[in-house]
Amino acid sequence: MKLFRRILVAAAFLSASFAVSAIAETADAPSPKRNIRLFAYERDNRMFYAWNADGLEWHAIDRGWVSSDYGAWGAEKKMHDPYLFHDKANGLWYCIFTPNPNDPVFALTSSPDLVHWHVQNYYDIKVAPKEFAPCIRDIDGASAIEWRNAEGKAMQESLKTEDFKHFDPAQASGKDMKLRQTIKLGGREWKGNIVTITKAELDGILAAKADADRKEALRGERVNANVRLPRNLQANSISAEIDVDLNRTKAISPLLWGIFFEDINYSADGGLYAELVRNRDFEFNDLDHGGWNALTGWTIPKELNPTIATEDPIHPNNPHYLVLEEKSKVGFYGRLGTEIAAAVNEGFRGMVFRKDQMYFFSIFAKCPDGGEAKLAVSLIGDDDIFNPFIIDVKGNEWKKTELLVCVNDNQVTDHGKLAIRPIGGKVAIDMVCLFPQMTFKTRPYGLRADLAQALADLKPRFVRFPGGCVAHGNGLGNMYRWNRTVGPLEARVPQSNIWGYHQSAGLGYFEYFQFCEDIGAEPLPILPAGVPCQNSSRGGKGQQGGIPMDEMDEYIQEVLDLIEWANGPEDSKWGKVRADAGHPSPFNLKYIGIGNEDLIGDVFKERFTMIFEAVKAKHPEITVVGTVGPFCEGSDYEDGWELARKLGVPIVDEHYYQSPGWFLNNQHFYDTYERGGTRVYLGEYASHNGPRTSTIETALSEAIYMLSLERNGDVVAMASYAPLLAKEGDTQWNPDLIYFNNTEVKPTTGYYVQKLFGNNAGDKYALTAANLLNRDGRRLADNDENAPLNKRFASSCVIDSKTNTVTVKIVNLLPFDVTTTLKFENLVDGKVGLGAAQVKAMKTVLSGNPDDVNVRPSEPEEFTLFSETIVHVKPFSLTVLSFPHSNL
Ligand code: AHR
Repeated sequence: MKLFRRILVAAAFLSASFAVSAIAETADAPSPKRNIRLFAYERDNRMFYAWNADGLEWHAIDRGWVSSDYGAWGAEKKMHDPYLFHDKANGLWYCIFTPNPNDPVFALTSSPDLVHWHVQNYYDIKVAPKEFAPCIRDIDGASAIEWRNAEGKAMQESLKTEDFKHFDPAQASGKDMKLRQTIKLGGREWKGNIVTITKAELDGILAAKADADRKEALRGERVNANVRLPRNLQANSISAEIDVDLNRTKAISPLLWGIFFEDINYSADGGLYAELVRNRDFEFNDLDHGGWNALTGWTIPKELNPTIATEDPIHPNNPHYLVLEEKSKVGFYGRLGTEIAAAVNEGFRGMVFRKDQMYFFSIFAKCPDGGEAKLAVSLIGDDDIFNPFIIDVKGNEWKKTELLVCVNDNQVTDHGKLAIRPIGGKVAIDMVCLFPQMTFKTRPYGLRADLAQALADLKPRFVRFPGGCVAHGNGLGNMYRWNRTVGPLEARVPQSNIWGYHQSAGLGYFEYFQFCEDIGAEPLPILPAGVPCQNSSRGGKGQQGGIPMDEMDEYIQEVLDLIEWANGPEDSKWGKVRADAGHPSPFNLKYIGIGNEDLIGDVFKERFTMIFEAVKAKHPEITVVGTVGPFCEGSDYEDGWELARKLGVPIVDEHYYQSPGWFLNNQHFYDTYERGGTRVYLGEYASHNGPRTSTIETALSEAIYMLSLERNGDVVAMASYAPLLAKEGDTQWNPDLIYFNNTEVKPTTGYYVQKLFGNNAGDKYALTAANLLNRDGRRLADNDENAPLNKRFASSCVIDSKTNTVTVKIVNLLPFDVTTTLKFENLVDGKVGLGAAQVKAMKTVLSGNPDDVNVRPSEPEEFTLFSETIVHVKPFSLTVLSFPHSNL
């Protein structure tokens, strides 16, 4: 029987609430069981449903079920003319729509139940049709996609497909497409298509809608003083008991707490990378940021005749350089601007010069016309005096000069500049670098010491880099390619940053690995899975354009080369590059992330699988971390997990930014995760309130959730808050863990939560039960009335078996002090003895009012613990109690 049948909808059905204005085919034939009509239509760029059981009244379901994942964020993510279709052959539902009428592309997704929709795939139909509005129908037993051809005539072309993945060439179908209808809903007409569904399918949709509404309400819950107490309870009648059983433990990941570094918010250039010169390589351009060019960041008077040249550059990867010419002779010393003409660089919002500090200057220079000249270079303080040191330049070959410069009293400033002028002719310059000598661990061309120290103080067990979206980049051409960021600075490949600025690649893979080694953290590089960011604005089709298949072998080799670069012997090809950079011994890389919250479409799956299999085969010692999309539910999450399980990916990277209410209400998120299979790296998470600031509310909602991560540390292998750093005035994303400017480091309240966890981590979790008690000392039953209280009080105990340290963390999100009896069960320890004796613990508390920002924890203070101890747990607080203990 043909799948489609023309049905004339009788005029008798027309009424105010149900109006079919176009008499047309339905997309499915009614059968005894499929007796409910479902109308699918586009609203706010999403596919919505309405249903009709009596043939008369339409009921709107106020939820979008499919939205477009195509193209760049914002204006590009559009859905036009969704069309719903049931494929009887495989029982799946399909939704086809046009994501962007400027691209000849259709988006297609499928679902088993009209609720869970799979990741979208995109089909390039090559020639833009006159009118998109695609539909699907059965033609001679095979499903086919149809649309109007370029002439817009009343004919269709069809792509026959058995599986909705492989298509025959388009051909005229000879049928007239009138598959869409108009109904009235809420007093407005909507165009869409009607299918028939079963009662069970409708029930599933309605249940999913109710579930989504319930979750939405919980998401909106605030951590504030308005928690409603059950009728028979008063704040002062509630106490608590925490039972810790140090004899009942499980192994948890020793790597749980780490950091996520991405070059967002000027985290790298202008941030952690201590370079003071902005656009040191004259490689800024319009792709970095509209209107930028090779001279951006530099102010150069006309009389120096500045030109950007590209002939015989220092290195082909760094093609632009600056040529300056002295036209009229002026003195060496004087006031910048009025007496001295010089090329001036103000750095990233000014350069900071400090008394008693040395500055490390380096430059490549040559005389393009041959002969000899000089460069006069000066650090400029607030008085604008040009008081230079002189560099000799000879001949037409690039020569690098490096020297240490000290500052005198009048150069000391927070708003310094670097000024350079030629003397005695024409001079070409490039790679103009200026660093404080005192970088982190005094590494040349290294990291800003105060920022790096703030990161080290978190005691991260791993560092993820270089992103985030920076890792997979804005379009194929912008993916972060690790091998272009190692080796001499002048040979690295600078490129635009997806967050709207420039990446010098000065902070490259070598520096990342070096930093990890310096702070004792495992490096966790994230490499693109052969696809760029699904929100790319370049390359037309964003994520859908993966690396062409005939280039994948080369790309896979690039991934394998990273392992050789990090771990190979110094006489191997890539090991030598590492050794030449000053690190002959291997970096001992153990983890590699493939992909960053990608769209798990066919393009991704194919490429990820190839890379994963290749790494597994050649380097079974490396743990690959996969990716499951940007959310904790939905198509990427579900399909990503399915792929990971199928391939046996050891760890997958989950991301979610959620409200405080979500974290509060999802403390059991990982309790039901399957053990013994793929584990989780929670690679990006943060609690976001309305104004997107880090407050006690957001920080403690993270803290209470982190307790649950410790409890689930057997399945959650790693976690990192995101993003990490943000420069004031140059921020694209809020909140971040640490804000900074050129002179200050400003940790947020969330930072201190991360620090308390990082500094009090363990490799074993001891069974911990935290219970609120009523006036009679009885546990508050776990019912709806008590739930708002119970979920606001939690605890976790971990043991660090290397240092024999026990740490109990308690989070109280209730607006009142909770008198808590902390009990250690079954503890028999002759040496330290909690049983009858006492132990000295250190107690640290972070507390405040929910909206407080910039809260710091108390200084650790001594606290005596017994096998049973009363702890007064402050309202809105994180309490950390830590003590040494042997024989654990
Ligand atoms: O952390 C900021 C961004 O959030 C990351 O770049 C991206 O992975 C995520 O969407």
